[in-house]
Amino acid sequence: MQPATEQRPLPASGPPEPELPPRTAPAHVAIIMDGNGRWAKARGLPRLAGHRAGGEAVRRSIAAAIRHGVRFLTLYAFSAENWARPASEVLDLTGLLRHYLKSEIANLAEEGVRLSVIGEPGRFAPDIQTELAAAERLTAGNERLFLTIALSYGARNEILAAARAAAAAVLAGKLRLEDLDEPRFASFLATAGTPDPDLIIRTSGERRLSNFLLWQAAYAELVYLDVLWPDFGEADFAAALAEYTQRERRFGARPG
Ligand code: IPE
Ligand code: IPE
Ligand code: MG
Repeated sequence: MQPATEQRPLPASGPPEPELPPRTAPAHVAIIMDGNGRWAKARGLPRLAGHRAGGEAVRRSIAAAIRHGVRFLTLYAFSAENWARPASEVLDLTGLLRHYLKSEIANLAEEGVRLSVIGEPGRFAPDIQTELAAAERLTAGNERLFLTIALSYGARNEILAAARAAAAAVLAGKLRLEDLDEPRFASFLATAGTPDPDLIIRTSGERRLSNFLLWQAAYAELVYLDVLWPDFGEADFAAALAEYTQRERRFGARPG
């Protein structure tokens, strides 16, 4: 289980604007990192070049999250549906993942990042599974930034698995059907213990969730950026946070 989060004020920049409600940074930001292929195409480069440049943007987004005091960052790196891409692209992506894990994990550990994986890590090559498990173990004591990487992740799969697990608990007499409420159901999801995302950013101009965190996104603020993922940087992260702070979150209640 991870600790409850507090909402932190954004670092002040410029004079205060008293007419606005108090600004708070999102505790949990999730990012659909899209547009690597288009970035490469625009440069006449192979898609691999776009994915490689996307790795740099991952580094920048983690640094930005830490700098802005965001406690939870979830990155959609590979969807369950992405296995349908040509084998050569899947091989490129898994190769980059392997490389990233080997080169980055020590840095992440040093930065106080705790890494978790959601999705189906078991579908990746055995050495990648070993690296992922080792990274989770190595960083398990950290709590500066809770970083979740979604790998072979699909929200429908996740919800279905949770439904099966809940049903199995009921059948085994460990859970009474009438006790299966929303929090209890969420405890069967891969994201158990992590607060729902406050802000979901999607780059590349596409405006859809693509099977990402469908349960958890119930009241997330969605910010779509026209920047392609390999170009994503600190300023884009800050812009998304700024847009978030302008939104009025009502959760179905009346304004104010
Ligand atoms: C995101 O970039 C990376 C993954 C989905 C793995 P894309 O590869 O989807 O790039 P576009 O959408 O084709 O530009
Ligand atoms: C969503 O991007 C998945 C990731 C960013 C990992 P896609 O490029 O796969 O999504 P669609 O196909 O455009 O919906
Ligand atoms: Mg895409």
